[in-house]
Amino acid sequence: MARLSNPALTVDPQPLNANRELTWAHLRQIRDLPTFPAVVGEINELLLNPDTSADDLSAVICRDPGLTAKLLRLVNAAYYGFHRQLTSVSLAITMLGFEEVQSLAMAAAVMGMWDNDAGNPVVRERLWEHSILVARLARAIGAQAKVEAEVPDLFVAGLLHDIGKIVIEREFPEQYADVMEIQITTGDSAREIEERVFAVRHEEVGAWLLERWQLPGLLVDGVGAHHAPEGATEAPVLAALLRLANALAHFDEAAEEGAKNAVGDDGGESAESSGGIAPEWLEPLGVTLRDLLAIRQRIVRGPGARS
Ligand SMILES: [Fe+2]
Ligand SMILES: [Fe+2]
Repeated sequence: MARLSNPALTVDPQPLNANRELTWAHLRQIRDLPTFPAVVGEINELLLNPDTSADDLSAVICRDPGLTAKLLRLVNAAYYGFHRQLTSVSLAITMLGFEEVQSLAMAAAVMGMWDNDAGNPVVRERLWEHSILVARLARAIGAQAKVEAEVPDLFVAGLLHDIGKIVIEREFPEQYADVMEIQITTGDSAREIEERVFAVRHEEVGAWLLERWQLPGLLVDGVGAHHAPEGATEAPVLAALLRLANALAHFDEAAEEGAKNAVGDDGGESAESSGGIAPEWLEPLGVTLRDLLAIRQRIVRGPGARS
């Protein structure tokens, strides 16, 4: 598609006077954004219905050959430890369980709608990998938390939390590649650079897209506030869980080491921030840094390493 030329988006590592109006004018005139796949809602509903059988899930997925192929690719990539490739949805359900296949099927559907679309496939792949990790972490942290999130399935929320980045990258691929380049050279956070370059934040673009897709307002609010849950009006718990899952997904070795040190041998925890996670992020949710480290270890090592 023709790209709007936006002179304010010429990238330079120095702060830019990017023009918020121009960026939004571009985003608002997009006519060819993918529509949200109805199958995601269908699959999600199956999980909420206690009478759903593995055959029901398999039938919904297999109706769409593209989705089936993508799901099996995801399954086999995530479970490369298996001795053989899983070639059928029902076998995948038997081997991995209903919930896991349900989650990966929703991920496959959400990722699949951007196939053959503009944008850099390598960058997009990396964004999806991050999104799936955040989805898994959000669901696990939600199960441990003492307060309930405002939406029933945190996996979908995690999967969609950075969808605004996908839109920005799609519309401004060169500038987006520069954002990453600047991040490497300056060490500044991608979010700060994003704001300097585009004068918008990915979470507001994400909330805008979810609203356009007519997804529930709670999901829109939680995704829109995932970097600043105090700004959430309807879904502060969801926003706080997403912030935590996102921080945990960005943990590197140093952050993990720091978090381990912050969790004392006596089970007490330091009052200092650790790995970018402030103690006050945890307390309202009723989870501890120790819980998070255990969740991260379980999930990052991958479901294939579970046994
Ligand atoms: Fe984000
Ligand atoms: Fe993120």
